Amino acid sequence: MGRDELTSSAALQARVNELQWHHTIDLGDGVVTPGGKSQAICAEEVRLIFDRIRLNGLSVLDVGAWNGLFSFEARRRNAARVLATDSYCWAHPHIRGRETFDLARVALGLDVEAQEIDAADLSPESVGEFDVILFLGVFYHRYDAVDTLAKVARLAKQLLIVETHLELRDIDEPAMIFFPGTELANDPTNWWGPNEHLIRDLLVGHGFKDIEATAHPGGTNRAIFHAWRSTEARLRPVAESERLKPLSRSLKCRRAVRAIFGRKK
Ligand SMILES: C[S@@+](CC[C@H](N)C(=O)[O-])C[C@H]1O[C@@H](n2cnc3c(N)ncnc32)[C@H](O)[C@@H]1O
Repeated sequence: MGRDELTSSAALQARVNELQWHHTIDLGDGVVTPGGKSQAICAEEVRLIFDRIRLNGLSVLDVGAWNGLFSFEARRRNAARVLATDSYCWAHPHIRGRETFDLARVALGLDVEAQEIDAADLSPESVGEFDVILFLGVFYHRYDAVDTLAKVARLAKQLLIVETHLELRDIDEPAMIFFPGTELANDPTNWWGPNEHLIRDLLVGHGFKDIEATAHPGGTNRAIFHAWRSTEARLRPVAESERLKPLSRSLKCRRAVRAIFGRKK
């Protein structure tokens, strides 16, 4: 579909209504995609992820882009090149993620590249290297999460941003829980719940010098990690008020009790 076929906002709204949306994206002319993630959470994630980075002239790879909110935002913030990639939701016959991405990209008129590729197949040969890599909400969807993070990390020249679900935050050592079935959010594609120590230590192991963990606007069981190889593009460090804080003692106790009596319920 070209821009011309979407000239009326009614036509665009009708196409938007036919599709499933995870991101709430303002497409202009009063058309806003009805994302499962609210506009407020999307806006706060965008702020926490991008406000500390000068993207001008940099290349950005968005792994697991889905509807494309973060790819579009990177391009709007003057990244020289943005490649959006995805596999599961883009190829899914009911979710129709690639159609949502293409529709939003045309409506916004943004020059963002797209490639359908599994995160496990990302390599210097298949996609090349990028200054900044977004690995948002994907880690725990891979059975081979640790290997996939390693593959993605290899491609990041300056900065890798990882956003993930967290578990076992009461444990002060690197740890990760396994979800063999649909225990997490009733979604069989959710395999792992790492704690913040695990993500930090993996990132350090991949040669990132400075790891900043930011609290997520959605609650204590998610976080955003900025892993810097070089801080050339950093405008400012994470603010103290935005930092991921250790769990309070009382929350740790409640979680420990839950662990003893059945963590999965
Ligand atoms: C929770 S959504 C996150 C979407 C977006 N990055 C965000 O943070 O809002 C997970 C995304 O990862 C994608 N995904 C899951 N497994 C993948 C894989 N093996 N390779 C590439 N993308 C994958 C899904 O298709 C989906 O778009």
